[in-house]
Amino acid sequence: MDYDTRYPGIDDLKRLARRRIPNFAFDYMEAGIDRETGKRRNRDAFDGVRLTPRYLRDTSAADIETAIFDRRYAMPFGVAPVGLGNMMWPQAERSLAAAAQQAGIPYVLSTFSTTDLAEIAQTAPDVCWFQLYVPREGAALKDLLARVKEAGFHVLVVTVDIPVGAKRNRELRNGLKLPFSLTWNILWQSMTHPRWALTTLRHGRPDFVNVQRYRSGPTTGLAEFITNFSAHGVSQEHLRTIRNIWRGPLVVKGVQHPQDALAALNLGADGLIVSNHGGRQLDAAPSSLESLRQLPDAVRSKMTVMLDSGVRTGLDVIRAKALGAQMAFSGRSFFYGVAALGAKGGGQVTGIYRDEIIRSLKQLGCSSFAALDGGWLARV
Ligand SMILES: Cc1cc2nc3c(=O)[nH]c(=O)nc-3n(C[C@H](O)[C@H](O)[C@H](O)COP(=O)(O)O)c2cc1C
Repeated sequence: MDYDTRYPGIDDLKRLARRRIPNFAFDYMEAGIDRETGKRRNRDAFDGVRLTPRYLRDTSAADIETAIFDRRYAMPFGVAPVGLGNMMWPQAERSLAAAAQQAGIPYVLSTFSTTDLAEIAQTAPDVCWFQLYVPREGAALKDLLARVKEAGFHVLVVTVDIPVGAKRNRELRNGLKLPFSLTWNILWQSMTHPRWALTTLRHGRPDFVNVQRYRSGPTTGLAEFITNFSAHGVSQEHLRTIRNIWRGPLVVKGVQHPQDALAALNLGADGLIVSNHGGRQLDAAPSSLESLRQLPDAVRSKMTVMLDSGVRTGLDVIRAKALGAQMAFSGRSFFYGVAALGAKGGGQVTGIYRDEIIRSLKQLGCSSFAALDGGWLARV
């Protein structure tokens, strides 16, 4: 095994992460919205998918390479976009981009990342995708897309599921503000985690470096900042404009309703990431797997369908494939990894998933990820 077996699963990394970083940073990563039932629903949905193994067949090979948008990836799993990544662990974004490049899996950089986009494109030249929060101002949209293209990102992922900044009670209680400012609460929590604090001091205060130039006004709460920068609801007109500017593969992230999936198809999008934002936006939203099951056939046959929200094991990636997702992503899995193990965390997470995906495929009696389909779903 090419990872540290003292932390054999993502839950082990989560436990360690909770101890290693200040509570406000852990809470930011972990928070769902409201009573966090949507977040739990994601997990329950995965746990409820049963697959029936097939034996009496040769399982010496398990091909997990995946072709998406004319590029080959070493496994069907990638790093979902996570804003303010370097707050969880200094330089988390760069180290995860490097781990993704090394593992040959997609790395999706958030608009609200805290590392310069050009630096990430250089760190992960073969696997970098860019996630766009559509700016409210047309000029900012054009400029940002030009920078993304110039930097060499392969795929543009437009997130559509934040029409309004989320009220996450954990963040409000902790008083998180931007630029990241030191309140007594945050100072106290930092002092009790000296390794995190010293490394953060050395690397500087995390900030939204990619959108700094478009921003005006003073310090704001996280939700407020996001709402002020972004368009209030990404409209079909926005997507049409983006489709005209961006010639490369275009993915819409955050789709849940079948009609929205069809609209994305009709507007010329190439792919979807079915997602409820990790349970961070609407507590009543269906789990990502429930939404995946509802996708219309036209979408399944014409678009590249992907998924995130709640993925924690290689078996979950396989479960999502049995229900039609060609690639799965996770945000928290990777950030648990870096928060727990620093620069080694990314490799630990990719190692765990690779091992679990291969073992699950072999256990199911399927020789390639591409061949895995609904025929493996248990008939109960
Ligand atoms: C701390 C945090 C920050 C996030 N920031 C973004 C973001 O900037 N853009 C985006 O499209 N999604 C963002 N997401 C959502 C993730 O891309 C992804 O949908 C979610 O993490 C998947 O669920 P999982 O964390 O359970 O794997 C964020 C998620 C978390 C946990």
